[in-house]
Amino acid sequence: MRELGREMAAGALREARERCAQDREFTLNGRRWHQLAGVVGSEYNTSTGLFAEWLPYEGAKSMLEMGCGCGVAAVTAAAAGCTEVVAVDINPHAVASARLNAERHGVADRVHCVQSDLFTEVDPQATFDLVFWNSPFIDHDVPRAEGDYFADHFFDPGYRLHDRFLSELPKRLTDQGRAFLGFSAAMGELDEVAAMARRHGLELRPFRSESFTVPHEEMGAAEVFRRAADEQGRVAIDLSLMELVR
Ligand SMILES: C[S@@+](CC[C@H](N)C(=O)[O-])C[C@H]1O[C@@H](n2cnc3c(N)ncnc32)[C@H](O)[C@@H]1O
Repeated sequence: MRELGREMAAGALREARERCAQDREFTLNGRRWHQLAGVVGSEYNTSTGLFAEWLPYEGAKSMLEMGCGCGVAAVTAAAAGCTEVVAVDINPHAVASARLNAERHGVADRVHCVQSDLFTEVDPQATFDLVFWNSPFIDHDVPRAEGDYFADHFFDPGYRLHDRFLSELPKRLTDQGRAFLGFSAAMGELDEVAAMARRHGLELRPFRSESFTVPHEEMGAAEVFRRAADEQGRVAIDLSLMELVR
């Protein structure tokens, strides 16, 4: 699994560096979105669209989207009635994209976009009814140039970010607050993150998932794709929204 995710993400990163090097727009979940140069989005948005559609926004007044990218879930939450949304990302181009998208969809008064390394720039007193992170769930790293944030989209070496996120999460939830992690068991190491969550008093439970299969040749020539294929030569990939329960 680890090898499959690494190989897929390494390929996606190579492509994204070229495809996401200029300002673009994309359509997702019935809305048009800005994607500034330096942010991964558009053709890499399958999980973005599904998770933003599946999150339970009902009754949530406040929401934190960690690692917001173009801010699709944050804007969707605001449009669904969340009145205090905070969208943060380490990537300044993502924060600027999310801000443009909040303006474009008429919710800029409710979506506060901030560049932040996880919770560092979030008001220390703030708690949220809903916290969501479509996380960089591949435990791997690549050389990173100064000012290049593409790898942050995919990779969390040693799951150190996940550990920091999970350690602070419980105190960032309101009494009835709920937290969700966007993940993939086929590409990431779900058991490792579940064990980490348990150490922070959280149980990782499946909330909703969708799977699809891809012919291994379409995924590339690497041996790992052939090894991961079933008898029909297809590789199964899941996109899983996991709930973190206290
Ligand atoms: C898989 S992408 C998800 C992006 C977007 N939410 C979406 O669904 O398309 C993971 C996001 O986490 C962000 N990220 C990585 N490290 C971070 C950190 N230390 N603090 C905040 N955001 C971070 C990345 O920049 C990226 O936007």
